[in-house]
Amino acid sequence: MGYPVQRPRRLRQTPALRRLVAQTRLDPAGLILPVFVREGASEPIPISSMPGVRQHSMVSLVQEARRVVAAGLGGIMIFGVPARRDAVGSGADDPDGILNQALARVRDAVGDETVVMADLCLDEFTDHGHCGVVSERTRGGRTDLVVDNDATLERYAAMGLAQARAGAHVLGLSGMMDGQVGHVRAALDDAGYADVVLLAYAAKYASGFYGPFREAVESTLTGDRTTYQQDPANLTESLREVALDVAEGADLVMVKPALPYLDVLRAVAEVSPVPVSAYQVSGEYAQIEAAAAQGWIDRDRVMLESLTSIRRAGAGQILTYYALRVADLLG
Ligand code: PBG
Repeated sequence: MGYPVQRPRRLRQTPALRRLVAQTRLDPAGLILPVFVREGASEPIPISSMPGVRQHSMVSLVQEARRVVAAGLGGIMIFGVPARRDAVGSGADDPDGILNQALARVRDAVGDETVVMADLCLDEFTDHGHCGVVSERTRGGRTDLVVDNDATLERYAAMGLAQARAGAHVLGLSGMMDGQVGHVRAALDDAGYADVVLLAYAAKYASGFYGPFREAVESTLTGDRTTYQQDPANLTESLREVALDVAEGADLVMVKPALPYLDVLRAVAEVSPVPVSAYQVSGEYAQIEAAAAQGWIDRDRVMLESLTSIRRAGAGQILTYYALRVADLLG
């Protein structure tokens, strides 16, 4: 039985009918706002490659966290921009370091009214800009600098403990070192932080879409992260990464970036026993902003359409720089 009995357009006639049958809904509770806090900033500093996004001062960060609560967002993910960096990223596990200070201030301000999340990675804190510590490796008379997986795990454990002490509810493991979830889980459990939640950036690709973020955190990286982040050509290894992270104790897993990797998101969502998040990254945001500024696309329409697509593909939670704007629009 087909046309003329079957008329799919019947369900598209009015906004009310379309709303009634919509399969995917955006809800502020599923959105997480990533924010930057800069050591020494006395007022917010604009980020030119991310119009509308700023590096916060401690004071403006706490105000932003209160807006997150008022808007009913699911959470706030905090990235620190330290004034000084060194080879091992000492600022990352220093209780007086910018990120740990910010976590404590925000947690104190919001309590349990939203979910306070900490980026757990060394790249903002190292002078070379890599996500881990670097060591020399000599093979066949040739010496190379490599990101040392197992030495990095010790740094992540110390960083995770400092973030737990500062009051983070969730630690976002974004460094793509093998074994990072299990290692940090064990360190937390040993120290009495069994309640701290781990969000594993399980499937994180080496992506050009992180470009504007590098400005946001004043990254010092030369080169790239292709020896630890995933090759955009691959899907199967995302399923392997997710399985390993879940086995190591990940409470949530993430796919990142989001829109260019909807197939990966769908595949992960089909098999993951834990909630699946996605990160609409800085370059995805910047693309929308740049085209909207030219008048080539309608910002809000493309924003909502992109986020709806990410949800439709299987994301339960979405990190997006648009989180407050979306909550505002959804009213
Ligand atoms: C690493 C990290 C990055 C992003 C989040 N965490 C950068 C990278 O891996 O190079 C990118 C987020 C974005 O582009 O919005 N700590």
